[in-house]
Amino acid sequence: MPHAQCSIAHNIAKEILSIYNSPLYVYQGDILRQTIDRITKSIPYPHTKFHFASVTNGNVSLLQIFNNCGWGIHANTPGDIYLALKAGFSPEKIVYSGSNLSAEEMAELLNWGITTFNLDSIAQLQVFCEVYQSQNNKNICSASILLARDKIKEIKLGLRLNLPEITGDSRIGVRPNEFIEAVEVAIKVNLKVSGLHFYRGTGTNATKAFTQVINKIIETAKLLPDWQYLDFGGGFGYPYHHNGTAFDWESFGNEITDILLKLDRKINLIIEPGRAAIAGCATLLAQVVSVKWQQDKQIIGVNTTVANLSVPSVHGGYREIVSWKSGKSYLTDVCGNTTYSRDYLGKNCQLPKLEIGDIVAILDVGAYGYAMSSHFLHRPRPAEVLLDNHNHKLIRRREDYDILLYNQIFS
Ligand SMILES: Cc1ncc(COP(=O)(O)O)c(C=O)c1O
Repeated sequence: MPHAQCSIAHNIAKEILSIYNSPLYVYQGDILRQTIDRITKSIPYPHTKFHFASVTNGNVSLLQIFNNCGWGIHANTPGDIYLALKAGFSPEKIVYSGSNLSAEEMAELLNWGITTFNLDSIAQLQVFCEVYQSQNNKNICSASILLARDKIKEIKLGLRLNLPEITGDSRIGVRPNEFIEAVEVAIKVNLKVSGLHFYRGTGTNATKAFTQVINKIIETAKLLPDWQYLDFGGGFGYPYHHNGTAFDWESFGNEITDILLKLDRKINLIIEPGRAAIAGCATLLAQVVSVKWQQDKQIIGVNTTVANLSVPSVHGGYREIVSWKSGKSYLTDVCGNTTYSRDYLGKNCQLPKLEIGDIVAILDVGAYGYAMSSHFLHRPRPAEVLLDNHNHKLIRRREDYDILLYNQIFS
């Protein structure tokens, strides 16, 4: 089986490390734009809008690429929305599909001008409607009545679906037998429940897990008398095993287009890809700081850690690790620069004999990479660089030890 390769040339990797140091998250702008373009073209249905799930990556420079390509944002949290607004997205291009906001947070989202809300429970809907009504009442009394009312006039309210036969055993969502109650709650404040949101977990490369359930979702959505939009979010997979199965965007796109075009009404479609859009454009470059052998196994120590990239070790995910060296491959563990027992960036990898100073590339780290990094183990986080052909620019500074003291109070 041929080894995966890093799409960054060795001389470029050396050059950018000499400038920005390692470890370093490197995003390739051209790969990101190609992926966005491919996903966008895969769904011919004319009333489709794509919203990048920024839970996977909140770097503002990357969010701006999505904005420039015409995508909106799917926000999981108010923090996602804050970042998207800072990146320049207009509020109506941000779809909130999340869980468990307080009334204060809902009020903040309305104040920020967010218009689409896919809610997770009747209780959340009730809180939302109360907040919406009290803002509406306040606005009626206020001098800036027109401006403020204008801000909240076009609310699109959706329910996140919980239907175990297709959503599995999930904590998320509202059961169809609760729809009538939801509609009644919304009507009291003159709102309609017009959307249904389908969440398929995360990282699904089995395209059929989506295509086989489209009819059932539509049948369920029809239970909402004012149904106007469908939102698919979470789960479009990415082939981290480079010879593995990939989510088939074209077949999903054609299938959903055929089905929606046959409906007797125009339904808007929202798609919220996360990892599928961003995973493949990024590489974490690190350098070898230690090599030892345990019988036939090579044990490499690198200058990054599972706290910089937690997915492989903490969450059991797989990320391919490659080097630019040639020669016979050996069974290799790639270990982080701490003594934490789970500090493995990769176990049982196939790598050539490496030496101190060699660069290794951890591939496909754009999603849930930097976004899930932490200060666990008290290692400051790496810098992030955007590489566009041969041009590179820093898009997030490397942290230093000061970050470990941030907000601490000396007594
Ligand atoms: C509602 C929703 N949409 C989209 C996503 C993105 O998921 P993925 O990266 O699997 O596409 C998530 C992830 O948590 C989510 O909760």
